[in-house]
Amino acid sequence: MKKFIPDNLPQPNSPEARDTASLIHPLTNLKTHLEKGPLVIEEGQGVWVTDVHGKKYIEGMSGLWCLSLGYGQERLVKAATDQMTRLPYYHLTNHKSHQPAIDLAEKLLEIAPVPMSKVWFSNSGSEGNDSAVRIVWYYWHAKGKPEKRKIISHQRAYHGNTIASASLSGMYYNQASFGLPLDGFLHVTPPHHYRYSNPGENEQDFASRLADELDKLIFSEGPETVGAFFTEPIMGSGGVIVPPPTYYEKVQTVLEKHEILLIADEVITAFGRTGNMFGTTTMGLNPDMLVCAKGLSSAYIPISALMVNARVFDVISEESDRIGVFGLSFTYSGHPVSAAVARETLRIYEDENIIDHVRMMEPHFLGGLNKLLDHPLVGEVRGKGLVAGVELVNNKTTGEAFDPVHNVGPFCVECAEAHGLIVRAIGDTISFCPPLVINESEIEELILRFQLALDDTLNMVQNKLWFQHARKD
Ligand SMILES: Cc1ncc(COP(=O)(O)O)c(C=O)c1O
Repeated sequence: MKKFIPDNLPQPNSPEARDTASLIHPLTNLKTHLEKGPLVIEEGQGVWVTDVHGKKYIEGMSGLWCLSLGYGQERLVKAATDQMTRLPYYHLTNHKSHQPAIDLAEKLLEIAPVPMSKVWFSNSGSEGNDSAVRIVWYYWHAKGKPEKRKIISHQRAYHGNTIASASLSGMYYNQASFGLPLDGFLHVTPPHHYRYSNPGENEQDFASRLADELDKLIFSEGPETVGAFFTEPIMGSGGVIVPPPTYYEKVQTVLEKHEILLIADEVITAFGRTGNMFGTTTMGLNPDMLVCAKGLSSAYIPISALMVNARVFDVISEESDRIGVFGLSFTYSGHPVSAAVARETLRIYEDENIIDHVRMMEPHFLGGLNKLLDHPLVGEVRGKGLVAGVELVNNKTTGEAFDPVHNVGPFCVECAEAHGLIVRAIGDTISFCPPLVINESEIEELILRFQLALDDTLNMVQNKLWFQHARKD
């Protein structure tokens, strides 16, 4: 466990002591945090961050899968300050508008991976997905089928943390003790062949079985009660799960058969992360709605976008006329400063040929991680573009996982941190999502530091009775 720096004790008035005295941290064990304290980051440049004690780290997760262009992008700072000076706030309600929101919406529709009709802005991925749920319900109500409101997503999916988006998510800790999910949110098996396939089942058969599971669930619930299916093209927080090649083709056949809307949650995968502008293209999806956030502004400012196709827009437009207004609204929808920064972010992706860069870096990144398959702890390496997961296992031959009580993944992440690399443990899968601007030598450095962390972790587990790899029998 990492201890307070420098003396293993919080210094009075240190940032660490002030933190534990004042903050509630998301996705953190609040009790452990009081003893363990935070890693306080002070500044960043490129793919590097520096903590308050001057130690440098490679930010191997782009923060929370979001800081695509890394630190120090002066153009984004300028876009924000220019817009702050000209028009720091206006809104989009009651027929009002402003140029930055119009510019950004136009650009998103131009680059959308499938034909989209209109864009709805909000402030986070969670709000984008929450809005998408509301629009699903509104849509089917308008179509005279108000009972078609159940929503299906994946176990281990992460779609955010409003009440609706946490219900869409398939994570125990987002729901436990919160009384979630809400009724009508259903979850199917994640498309992760390594963990969820039957013995001897190939990827094709696995994909067919999961599509069949979806079909059966829809039948048992009643197709007239199921409104939409939400999916991350590649699941991020669930452990970087890349579905097998025929999965989406088969799933989409089932959805079409039952007249169910498809929503792509591209909060992580949009804007080059998977080697195409959108994960929808990489994975062959044809969604009715698409949610993006994070990389939309390279995380320099909060903003998300929900694109809807004409099939959806035409219906909700008529319904808003019947009711009087479209009753979804956030004060900061399409905030001009956020929109201006996002528009500039999209310009930088184009000016820097970010897609070509990701495709050039992918073999170094995934190739380098794949070499670690020789390591005694590594069971599977999976990923696309510049997002990856490395799963640590107790037994490489059988793929048997470690008992979660041993906290092997979190231990490995702490070792990485000691070696100056920030990555994240999702159970025992270590996830990587470096800024898209990372170069070849930085990738080498990232992998080297991770390898050191893996060796430290092996040292830790090697003498434990539960470590199967170490057993002679
Ligand atoms: C796929 C996906 N959807 C939605 C969200 C929620 O986004 P936000 O944290 O901006 O609300 C996340 C956040 O990690 C995500 O990974």
